[in-house]
Amino acid sequence: MSTLSAKSVFITGANRGLGLAFVKHFLRLEEPPTYVFAACRQPDQATELARLAGENGRVRVVKLDVREDEEIAAAVVEVEKVVGAGGLNLLLNNAGVNQQEQGLESLTREKMNYHFDCNVTAPLLVSKAFLPLLRRAANKTDFSCSRAAIINVSTVLSLIKFINRMNDFRYPYNSSKCALNMVTDILAREVSPDGVLVAGLHPGWVKTDMGGPNAMIDIEESISKCMNTIAVMNKDSSGLLYSYTGTIFQWNAEF
Ligand SMILES: NC(=O)c1ccc[n+]([C@@H]2O[C@H](COP(=O)([O-])OP(=O)(O)OC[C@H]3O[C@@H](n4cnc5c(N)ncnc54)[C@H](OP(=O)(O)O)[C@@H]3O)[C@@H](O)[C@H]2O)c1
Repeated sequence: MSTLSAKSVFITGANRGLGLAFVKHFLRLEEPPTYVFAACRQPDQATELARLAGENGRVRVVKLDVREDEEIAAAVVEVEKVVGAGGLNLLLNNAGVNQQEQGLESLTREKMNYHFDCNVTAPLLVSKAFLPLLRRAANKTDFSCSRAAIINVSTVLSLIKFINRMNDFRYPYNSSKCALNMVTDILAREVSPDGVLVAGLHPGWVKTDMGGPNAMIDIEESISKCMNTIAVMNKDSSGLLYSYTGTIFQWNAEF
């Protein structure tokens, strides 16, 4: 069984929910990263992250609203100062939004744009900004999340066949995550030649603020399985969308 041995990891939306759990799981690894960059919008209010950083010098809390270009640029400078020539091994684009009331009745341009900004544009621009550091860490003979990778956290709700079955009418969330899969696919093809792996990951329907109390699985199960799944990704994983269980979704069928 492959294990993760990334030396540096950058996680967006790390102050709560799945992002915070990713931070904790990376720290629990047999070979934890030397640097776990835990990004969040309001570090002064991220009490759990502050506690973790106080207990463990590997955790670096970074201020990052993924919708703010200047904050993205500042985060890259901050990370580069720490990782230097080693570059960044893994970028986890986890931050995302899924607001209440997304049916046609309450739909507005603002709501659509907000979801596309957070769920599609932001992970793409954050990836673009960190690519020089990921390329620095890359090794073309070792495609893995321990070496140089971008993981975009998506959802089964991005899959047209799944939505058909569910009769789910969340236009902004479902369509933005569907577009994120396309971003994952295009970016994977563009940066694969540099040795950077790019893949999508569905964490399951999880009991977080977003998933709600009736979700199918708890955070612990989701993230421990996500960690196992990203650990075994390799060159053939690029551009694919994985479930937390390791199943690959066929969203990009041949024609
Ligand atoms: N939970 C599920 O069932 C489920 C299922 C499929 C996919 N997902 C995906 O998994 C990811 C994490 O979801 P979750 O369940 O942990 O959600 P959550 O509990 O609602 O947490 C969302 C995280 O994203 C952050 N965020 C939102 N907008 C941001 C911005 N502009 N800049 C920086 N951070 C921002 C939030 O920060 P603040 O605290 O500052 O708002 C928070 O840390 C999302 O991409 C979601 O779409 C979740």
